[in-house]
Amino acid sequence: MNTTDQWWKKSVVYQIYPRSFRDLNGDGIGDLPGIIEKLDYLKLLGVDIIWLSPIYDSPNDDNGYDIRNYQEIMNEFGTMADFDRLLEEIHKRDMKLMMDLVVNHTSDEHEWFVQSKQSKDNPYRDYYIWREGKDGKEPNNWGSFFSGPAWEYDEATNEYYLHLFSKKQPDLNWENPKVRQEVYQMMKFWLEKGVDGFRMDVINMISKAPGLPDGVQHSGQLFGDGAPYFMNGPRIHEFLQEMNKEVLSQYPTISVGEMPGTTPEDAVLYTNPNRREVNMIFTFEHMDLDSAPGGKWNLKPLNLLDLKENLAKWQTAIHNRGWNSLYWNNHDQPRIVSRFGNDEEYRVESAKMLAACLHFMQGTPYIYQGEEIGMTNVKFKSFKDYRDIETINMYNERTSQGYSHEEIMASIYAKGRDNARTPIQWDDSEHAGFTTGTPWIKVNPRYQEVNVKNALDDKNSIFYFYQKLIALRKELDIIAEGDFQLLLEDHPELFAYERKWKEECVIVICNFGDKDVAIENELLTRISDYNVILSNYEGSNIEKLRPFEVVVLTR
Ligand code: NOJ
Repeated sequence: MNTTDQWWKKSVVYQIYPRSFRDLNGDGIGDLPGIIEKLDYLKLLGVDIIWLSPIYDSPNDDNGYDIRNYQEIMNEFGTMADFDRLLEEIHKRDMKLMMDLVVNHTSDEHEWFVQSKQSKDNPYRDYYIWREGKDGKEPNNWGSFFSGPAWEYDEATNEYYLHLFSKKQPDLNWENPKVRQEVYQMMKFWLEKGVDGFRMDVINMISKAPGLPDGVQHSGQLFGDGAPYFMNGPRIHEFLQEMNKEVLSQYPTISVGEMPGTTPEDAVLYTNPNRREVNMIFTFEHMDLDSAPGGKWNLKPLNLLDLKENLAKWQTAIHNRGWNSLYWNNHDQPRIVSRFGNDEEYRVESAKMLAACLHFMQGTPYIYQGEEIGMTNVKFKSFKDYRDIETINMYNERTSQGYSHEEIMASIYAKGRDNARTPIQWDDSEHAGFTTGTPWIKVNPRYQEVNVKNALDDKNSIFYFYQKLIALRKELDIIAEGDFQLLLEDHPELFAYERKWKEECVIVICNFGDKDVAIENELLTRISDYNVILSNYEGSNIEKLRPFEVVVLTR
């Protein structure tokens, strides 16, 4: 594999969550003209590809991940003419646009589902997954990702439909060839317009095991774990190869599979170019290391050794065999500086350290809106200020299970998706310059300190550090091509690694703690003839790293 035909190996993706990015018409909801207004800002940062979270017509049960019409633009976001202009403006600036492809499920208001619900013999019935109940209960014991069972009863036809997410997100039946053809036609509609590719939402869940067997139910759990029967299912590779053959290979595209529950071996199957499935995978193991058994709401402090081991495993197992995405943040994750860094005293230092730690690895880095200025988590006092369906359903479920309000709020503060969804802080004016109206979700109260204007005015800001990281990826082939070796494997505070390629060598040393740490003699001797090419403090002394300091060295 080389980088010429795989240009995206040296690219950096910037993810926009349109609802919270920039509102130009004052309705409190971000929109497409707002994105156009900020394209020069993204160009200044230096990113190559914009991934747009869904902008399609949707009743917004899950903020657009429940699509009512795949070929229309959500009213709040603008019109198709706005979209065409956005695409043109992105291309004019020599950037690319990656759309969100959400085809594991639709909205229950999608015409296909409206039809499907009508009767058992409706031509669209088999577009979704309908089953009879078992002993007066759901067809199996699977739980939904958004609390409650994964099945909803429909009185009119006396059957249940499957929804792995909210009950307003019925799962499509990919066993039905007509469904697959509809999806491919829709993808072509966007590709014909000139979009450059797709990020595919939970795409490794589209093939379900025949018979939809019950999952193992652990004690204390309300539902069985259906994941072994719907993640990486029996026909998944066949479906992706078909999609590749019929659609992706017909256009110059980039394709990214969001795939929870995957191992590096799965990743090779999905992304090895010879298999013609997708270009790269977007995985989750490293985001689950601060969760106790039972899921993300059960908090556990991160052990740095686990993080090092996990990322090193992915780096080495996929090298020369497949391709991974590198990310700390997206619209589903809390803000990394609050999560693995220190968002108070060392906000700037830790944000930069985390950025460098990730961006010098092999893979395609993703920057999630606001990450480039070090945006932090929020703690809304009132539960009423939360908007995310996952959070709201979990709150209700846990309350009925007897968890205290305080306990639940602690989970939300640490892991809730709304941490990532507060409006982008453009400046220190009212509503952080996001809108002139009332924002759909409250602005993070730290906007007067943390905002884009301040970042652009300060040459030492997190923004310019990201800009440098992006530029370095383009300059130094070793970042995209080199192999990876973990150093100081058992060190509890330092995350250090070496990249090697041809005669070149890069060493990255990150202090994940808030204390000074001396570098051991063996490594010191080794790097004595190296030069520091990047650091997040003035005047780095490589013998001792300060809190959250990172040094990157080459020879
Ligand atoms: C993954 C998306 O990233 C998330 O935001 C969404 O809720 C689910 N898939 C369902 O579409």
